[in-house]
Amino acid sequence: MANVTVIGAQWGDEGKGKIVDWLASRADAVVRFQGGHNAGHTLVVGEQVYKLSLLPSGIVTGTLSIIGNGVVLDPWHLKSEIAKLESQGVVINTSNFAIADNCPLILPLHRDLDGLREQAAGAGKIGTTGRGIGPAYEDKVGRRAIRVCDLAHLDSLDAQLDRLCAHHDALRAGFGQPPVDREALLTELREIAPFVLQYAEPSWKRLQTVRKAGARILFEGAQGVLLDVDHGTYPFVTSSNTVSGTAASGSGLGPNATGFVLGIVKAYTTRVGSGPFPTELEDETGQRLGERGHEFGTVTGRKRRCGWFDAVLVRQSCAISGVTGIALTKLDVLDGFDKVRICTGYRLGGKVLDYFPSHAADQAGVEPIYEEMDGWNGTTAGARSWADLPAQAIKYIQRVQELIETPVALVSTSPEREDTILVRDPFVD
Ligand code: GDP
Ligand code: IMO
Ligand code: MG
Repeated sequence: MANVTVIGAQWGDEGKGKIVDWLASRADAVVRFQGGHNAGHTLVVGEQVYKLSLLPSGIVTGTLSIIGNGVVLDPWHLKSEIAKLESQGVVINTSNFAIADNCPLILPLHRDLDGLREQAAGAGKIGTTGRGIGPAYEDKVGRRAIRVCDLAHLDSLDAQLDRLCAHHDALRAGFGQPPVDREALLTELREIAPFVLQYAEPSWKRLQTVRKAGARILFEGAQGVLLDVDHGTYPFVTSSNTVSGTAASGSGLGPNATGFVLGIVKAYTTRVGSGPFPTELEDETGQRLGERGHEFGTVTGRKRRCGWFDAVLVRQSCAISGVTGIALTKLDVLDGFDKVRICTGYRLGGKVLDYFPSHAADQAGVEPIYEEMDGWNGTTAGARSWADLPAQAIKYIQRVQELIETPVALVSTSPEREDTILVRDPFVD
């Protein structure tokens, strides 16, 4: 059995979607295990561009795709994303797509609360995607959530709705908002229920069956380790655990099923939303990285903050997530730079650190220590084999893997599916 778990090793948008899509043709099932439609995964196949937020990236190749229990699911968004992909010719039906029936729902009241809180926070806002992710996870942990399986029992939802609305009405009152309109919510749920229920099942069982039959399972993470609610730049994080360990709990398969952990790592660093970012460049170089890398968010269209590669952060992410090998993406964006820099340590209060501290003030206060390397002549864009890479680009890759203490398994050199160099096949670990 050779399964693969794909996670982002920075602040998200590392190119997970592209890599999952590339690997999906070799997998028998792809399962999303956390996050929700805050994710934005872009897949480029020839002339077609697919933008996925909630659906597993395996759906485009027609691979069995499952939304696991660890995901928070907005049923109305699901419907529109499916319609959009179908209009692009993607086939989605009950034989290639399933949703865990114990998945909690994101409701309009969650989106409301996300927006109200961000608005009230002013300059101190997290910069969320505004999709209700945090409030939906809070209700899951607070044992107030409405779940996919509840959609089949809407006539006996009274007690659950009492609990949920009591909580939200108090919060809404604090923001000067009217109580939740229960009847309207129930009507909306009744309308959407049949659409969601056609795909709902105890999906751990289907995964177990395919696993027993020797299938290769690909676990698809969203966001990145630095947005993890425990290990990330708290409180500027998302509300789920984004580390590889979540693949087990968020899919219903045990930790012995998660296999090779493939960390997706951008050849430089980006972040969208607020929070510390030691190697951020607010100058022309940062601007150039953003332009060359087309660094605009898929979900919100926001400009992503850009900076040099931070080996300290990625080494930490790889350690915390037990990364077996990385996929180094967007190497081509560094083409044409005379010099490239890598952060190898931090200075904080007269001390040198080889790790990222936990406290928000320390995270904001660290100063990066850089190592500078020559850039490369020629281009890596579109390279499909190691031999196509300029010697100096290979030196950069080798230095990265040395500093992060983790080997490179794949290199990505353009958005296009096939512009990928296989160094070590994660499925035959
Ligand atoms: P994800 O959230 O990790 O799936 O990443 P996103 O899709 O949000 O952002 C990555 C962006 O970079 C997308 O627009 C991809 O099409 C693009 N991309 C992925 N790999 C490469 C690469 O190797 N080179 C370039 N130039 N673009 C890439
Ligand atoms: P993918 O899967 C980048 C960020 C938001 C914000 C913080 C909390 O495409 O890599 P949330 O809406 O989750 O409560 O927002 O997390 N964020 C992401 N940043 N890529 C993502 O997903 C993200 N999902 C959430 O910008 O800073
Ligand atoms: Mg993204």
